[in-house]
Amino acid sequence: MLRLFFRLYLFLMLPATAAFVLFMYVTDQVMDQMHIEQSRARWAGSLERAERILNDTRVPDSEGRLKLVEETFRIEHSIIPLSQAMNDWFMSPAEKERLRDGAVALRDRPGGGQVALRKLKGSDRVLRIESIGAFEYVLWYYAIIIALVTLAMCAILYRWAKPLWRDVEALKAATSRVGEGDFGVRAQVERGSMLQPIASAFNVMADRVQALVRSHSDLEQSVAHELRTPLAQLKFDLELARSSPNPEDRERRYVAMEQDVLALEELVNELLLLASLREAPPYKPMAIAATVLMDDVIRRAKDEMRASGRDVAIEAPRNLPENLSCDAKYLSRALINVVRNAARYAKTRVALTVESAGPRTVINVDDDGPGIPPNDRERLFEPFTRLEGARDRESGGVGLGLAIVRSVAEWHGGEARITDSPLGGARVSISW
Ligand SMILES: Nc1ncnc2c1ncn2[C@@H]1O[C@H](COP(=O)(O)OP(=O)(O)OP(=O)(O)O)[C@@H](O)[C@H]1O
Ligand SMILES: [Mg+2]
Repeated sequence: MLRLFFRLYLFLMLPATAAFVLFMYVTDQVMDQMHIEQSRARWAGSLERAERILNDTRVPDSEGRLKLVEETFRIEHSIIPLSQAMNDWFMSPAEKERLRDGAVALRDRPGGGQVALRKLKGSDRVLRIESIGAFEYVLWYYAIIIALVTLAMCAILYRWAKPLWRDVEALKAATSRVGEGDFGVRAQVERGSMLQPIASAFNVMADRVQALVRSHSDLEQSVAHELRTPLAQLKFDLELARSSPNPEDRERRYVAMEQDVLALEELVNELLLLASLREAPPYKPMAIAATVLMDDVIRRAKDEMRASGRDVAIEAPRNLPENLSCDAKYLSRALINVVRNAARYAKTRVALTVESAGPRTVINVDDDGPGIPPNDRERLFEPFTRLEGARDRESGGVGLGLAIVRSVAEWHGGEARITDSPLGGARVSISW
């Protein structure tokens, strides 16, 4: 804190003080130059008076009287050799010229005020008058002003630096605790502090890191759980197949085992797809023929539906744009997931629509099934979440379909949403 304070102080105060002193000095100089002829005349009077006292032989101790005058008016008289006066390096050459010519020469006193000199008539000695007193106060006056300004600046700076310092410390502490793995801490800074935007950005980052860590561990748990179910089933079927004397029964077990292996394979493939999306290079749009993409998605959905013995009409979109700007591999994978879900839950029909306005495209997949309650819509995009009753082998998959859909949409720079469908069921929209 002290270091910050002193640095700020030096940075601000030293130039300010220097500027103030320079300003006062320059003002003095300018004033002196403006009034130089008047002060020469005034000094000429004083020199005249002093010289008269010195030359007055009627008075016994003229130099003593001069001393008395000095004390009364706080001026200092001295008589010095001309050569010494000419060596004074505070005096300008022009003034030295005047001195040699017997005129009044002036030079500034470093502490303020002036020194006046004039050659004594008929000699090579110089009468020198230096005003003291008043100007010593000017120095004090400057010193007090500078001290007061310094103190005031110190107080202001301290008032300003202290909360800033406290906020910096709070931010530092929060950062190092997050660095140590405590993702629950948040930086608390004063309201309206200069560091508020940094603290908010830090807190948003900590939120995201915390959510990410949590979702990672949730995902690990879910993966382990999801693997356990088909594996247990597989083990069970294997035991029964081994112990069954009946070949028909054994064959039934093998078919069940094959299904479990396929389910495991699908789970692994979907997880790999999700992981590949997280690691995927940044999205680069490509122009893809829209009908080719849609026809492929619908054909695959129909094939799967036929295989599972369901009969639902899948309506291709009308007014398709010629091209879609997207990544065909990932988008068709996401669309297939949505269409497959819709076909699984629809009563009689599934309809696709494409809205394309400028660079923005929205694909809606509608069905006339039971729909999805509004409260469940967001969480279904999390991996391994399904609605109650969708867990059996027939109707439900592993619950990664919509998680993949959202990841694909976000990778495209867009989003995936569930709303109500005009057909009465659910509408899943992918927009980017
Ligand atoms: N069109 C829909 N109508 C009603 N419910 C739906 C619809 N689409 C999805 N759901 C619900 O959302 C859940 C999650 O869907 P998601 O596609 O993520 O997983 P899944 O279909 O169960 O498994 P996966 O797609 O991984 O094989 C489904 O289990 C189902 O409960
Ligand atoms: Mg699905």
